[in-house]
Amino acid sequence: MSHELQKSTLRWGIIGTGLISSWFLSDMVAPRADATANHTIQAIGSSSEEKGRAFVQRLGGAATPSVYGSYDKVYADPEVDIVYIGIPHAFHKDACLKAISHGKHVLCEKPFTLNTKEAQEVFNAAKEKGVFVMEAMWTRFMPLTVQLLQLIHQDKVIGDVHRLFCDFGLAMDLDSLPATSRLKDPALGAGTLLDLGVYSLTWGLLGLDEGIASAALTPQVFSAQSISEGIDVATSVVLHYPQNGRQGILTSTMKTKSDPVFARIEGSKGTIFIEGIATSVPRRFTVVTNDAAAERQVYDAPAKVGKGFFYEADAVANDIFAGRVENATMPWDETLRVLALMDGIRARGVCQA
Ligand SMILES: NC(=O)c1ccc[n+]([C@@H]2O[C@H](COP(=O)([O-])OP(=O)(O)OC[C@H]3O[C@@H](n4cnc5c(N)ncnc54)[C@H](OP(=O)(O)O)[C@@H]3O)[C@@H](O)[C@H]2O)c1
Repeated sequence: MSHELQKSTLRWGIIGTGLISSWFLSDMVAPRADATANHTIQAIGSSSEEKGRAFVQRLGGAATPSVYGSYDKVYADPEVDIVYIGIPHAFHKDACLKAISHGKHVLCEKPFTLNTKEAQEVFNAAKEKGVFVMEAMWTRFMPLTVQLLQLIHQDKVIGDVHRLFCDFGLAMDLDSLPATSRLKDPALGAGTLLDLGVYSLTWGLLGLDEGIASAALTPQVFSAQSISEGIDVATSVVLHYPQNGRQGILTSTMKTKSDPVFARIEGSKGTIFIEGIATSVPRRFTVVTNDAAAERQVYDAPAKVGKGFFYEADAVANDIFAGRVENATMPWDETLRVLALMDGIRARGVCQA
């Protein structure tokens, strides 16, 4: 392979210079005492070199990568170990396949691809090439998420889980956006389900099906989507687990902003409320038990520099250093499972907004 790792530093090539790439990159270059891996930004690929240079400059000189006015040069750069893909969903599959064909590892933003078929194609290519690939579902890697799942499923602090509600809404002023915006253009995969609902769905699965190990507990899915100008502006999903009667109500909208307390998990012994600046970024959860005399327990995310993308990045680096091609927290089957649910939801429930 062209990316033999000489030392425990992962050399990243970033594809796209939009919002998410800027967040990811600024996290990568932030100094951290608790880092479990070293990262360096080796290359930036943009639609124009000028845009790429401006992107690096905005980040204040903390990184000095090669800047290319093309993505292909990043894939071909022998100094790049892994490609981070931060471009609209519709282009994820092709970018993944090109990076893999050059023997690069890949971390690709959510949703991993537009549908299951595309994802399977990417995973097949990765398997053949023997490279690491993961969907960048960063929420699963946050210490607060890990702690929450331990308390629910192992410690059973709220007893048997019965129901879970989760919402992700952003009030988007679509009229002010150009028709070419990734948030508006159906050809770019626009719509709330793939953009926001993927997080509500993720929380639903994490809270209700006790984790990836019991993924065989496949839920039934009921859903409805409100479609306007070719994209879903609101989606509601009910997950129903026939084996134990658990239900999840999982919603997304681009019409209104969701409450900071974006999720509620109800069990036989109590309720957990999860909050954060967005459904993707849990910052606190509160456990309220049915025992009226007991105090509410509040759990906060650890204080940190940056946004928290480094948790997934460290996990990826440690997998690659250990020679693994998949990550145990976000394995290929889990990406395929979530995409299959979203394929079904999009095929099923449609009404005009
Ligand atoms: N993990 C999270 O919390 C999170 C948050 C936001 C977005 N995302 C995901 O990240 C991906 C990118 O989202 P974003 O919000 O960063 O988008 P964005 O701000 O619009 O940036 C996307 C970038 O992709 C490149 N691009 C290539 N072809 C494009 C096209 N036809 N139209 C627009 N841009 C194009 C552009 O970079 P160059 O011109 O430099 O090539 C552009 O700056 C999406 O898949 C989204 O779901 C994840």
